[in-house]
Amino acid sequence: SVDSTLELPASIMGHRGIPSLAPENTLGGFRKASEIGTTWVELDVTLLADNTPVVCHDPALLLECGQKVMLAHSTLDQLAHINMADDHPDWPHEPLPQLYDVLQLLKELGMGVNLELKDYGAEPDIIATQVEAALKTSGFPQGRLLLSSFSEAILQACQKLMPGIRRGLLFDDLSLDWQDKARQLELFSLHVDWRYLNQARTLAIKEAGLKLYCWTANSPADIASLWHWGLDGVMTDHPQLFMESQAGS
Ligand code: G3P
Ligand code: MG
Repeated sequence: SVDSTLELPASIMGHRGIPSLAPENTLGGFRKASEIGTTWVELDVTLLADNTPVVCHDPALLLECGQKVMLAHSTLDQLAHINMADDHPDWPHEPLPQLYDVLQLLKELGMGVNLELKDYGAEPDIIATQVEAALKTSGFPQGRLLLSSFSEAILQACQKLMPGIRRGLLFDDLSLDWQDKARQLELFSLHVDWRYLNQARTLAIKEAGLKLYCWTANSPADIASLWHWGLDGVMTDHPQLFMESQAGS
């Protein structure tokens, strides 16, 4: 089974970087997160037509000309001019980042990363192979790395190809058979929408020896009691607020 200690505890993870202060899922955004003291980020991974893994939340993007393009049908060349910062008027141009470049940057910054592998139609084995290649070439340290997905098939492919890398299953509402899934997929963690967590569920998950991360909480007060019951970490658009509240408690 997977080692249960992270080299750097993932107690506050900036969701897609620090979207309250910088464009989400961008190199500049991850730098900004680091500048203000965030040590972990969650980000979304998907594949282009040639299977290049890129960091982007959505399966499709809008080109400047107004045309909508599916990432799964596009190449890096076709997306070369896209500006991922166009919802931040004062922010410089941000390219669609390749996973490899993001891993390099986060490694340099000494950060931890939770790679959320999106299920946008690519074969699970291909997703796992491409992610493993990016991890290997970047030499990203395993002690600061989590793989997560809503897709059991994707996690299963990761389990087969890179069994030693920590896996977390994502839930909106927690399913009844979470214990079976945790066993089958040899999970390190469950990642649950905070609104579906209560004391009984939190205690049961901790009792089962799993880490529990919640997403996406944006007010420290919303999850204050979860910490008391054993929550291990939070994904948030406002890591700065949670850092302040931890420093003050
Ligand atoms: O990883 C947790 C969270 O990011 C899942 O939802 O849509 O923000 O990727 P989403
Ligand atoms: Mg995500």
